[in-house]
Amino acid sequence: MHFRHAVVTGGAGFLGSHLCTALLDRGTDVTCIDDLSTADPGNIDHLRNRPGFTVTQASVCEAFDVARPTDLVLHFASPASPADYLRLPLHTLETGSLGTRNALALARRHGARFVLASTSEVYGDPQQHPQTETYWGHVNPVGPRSVYDEAKRFGEALTTAEAEVHGTDTGIVRLFNTYGPRMRGYDGRAVPTFIRQALAGEPLTVTGDGRQTRSLSYVEDTVNGVLAMAGSDLRGPVNIGNPEEVSMLDLAHLIIGLTGSDSAVRLVERPTDDPTVRCPDITLARGKLQWEPRVPAEEGLARTIAWYRAPVAA
Ligand SMILES: NC(=O)c1ccc[n+]([C@@H]2O[C@H](COP(=O)([O-])OP(=O)(O)OC[C@H]3O[C@@H](n4cnc5c(N)ncnc54)[C@H](O)[C@@H]3O)[C@@H](O)[C@H]2O)c1
Repeated sequence: MHFRHAVVTGGAGFLGSHLCTALLDRGTDVTCIDDLSTADPGNIDHLRNRPGFTVTQASVCEAFDVARPTDLVLHFASPASPADYLRLPLHTLETGSLGTRNALALARRHGARFVLASTSEVYGDPQQHPQTETYWGHVNPVGPRSVYDEAKRFGEALTTAEAEVHGTDTGIVRLFNTYGPRMRGYDGRAVPTFIRQALAGEPLTVTGDGRQTRSLSYVEDTVNGVLAMAGSDLRGPVNIGNPEEVSMLDLAHLIIGLTGSDSAVRLVERPTDDPTVRCPDITLARGKLQWEPRVPAEEGLARTIAWYRAPVAA
């Protein structure tokens, strides 16, 4: 499916900037709407002079429109790293609620396909493993992470109601942890933290006993999954992630090995409500979107490390 003009909210962020690039590469013009609250503005430097790319600095919490016809809205605006949403709790809730309402209204006005970036965090600290889309989750509604988890759960409910009430063409992707170039070194997520520490020769700070697991998807794979969802008529939710599970301790040692660092590992306190396991069941994405991750962890991490050593615009 070819789109002529897409609006990407949060388009200056880590995932958003890769989505903007991938859409432009596929011949789709892009308007990026971002308030730069958690973005490194350098993320889109390579796009600023590219034909077909427009950027507007604005918050999606205020109603917004774009002047030209739009056939795709990718709603990615939201703090995503725990360090960011713990620092910006009300902003996170408002972006997930008011921001999602405004992005849905834009899609409705333009008759556009809408895709919500939801998250594996809707599963909370899961009691089902791996997580299928039919699992309802295990979330603490008043814990510190609730500002993010519940904002995304509300966003899913709002998106579903929008499709029911107004017939808007909506899709929901539940993204699992994604890593790659352009994650901020201090955004608090494990991969950029470990790489930054390994390259600086500092100890890698692994939380708890390090046995908690995550599934890590390289950004190119996640972007392809999101665009496959955009090009489908699926409502979802659909899990997009890499089912290969890795413990935080193994990840730290893998990064030490790949960077050739002589850093040690230091165990530090585990955050409240930190999930013990996280692994997507991607049967639905495989079957309905013909999508599955292709980049092995060693390769994706090596590419990411190379970028941290010498950040290049691309
Ligand atoms: N990276 C992951 O592993 C992951 C996993 C699951 C879900 N997601 C979702 O994907 C999206 C992007 O995540 P990311 O990792 O790129 O995070 P990010 O922080 O790098 O990007 C988020 C972007 O949204 C912008 N933003 C925040 N609030 C805004 C607002 N009110 N108005 C306009 N712009 C706003 C920020 O400035 C930033 O550019 C988020 O919705 C996140 O919940 C990401």
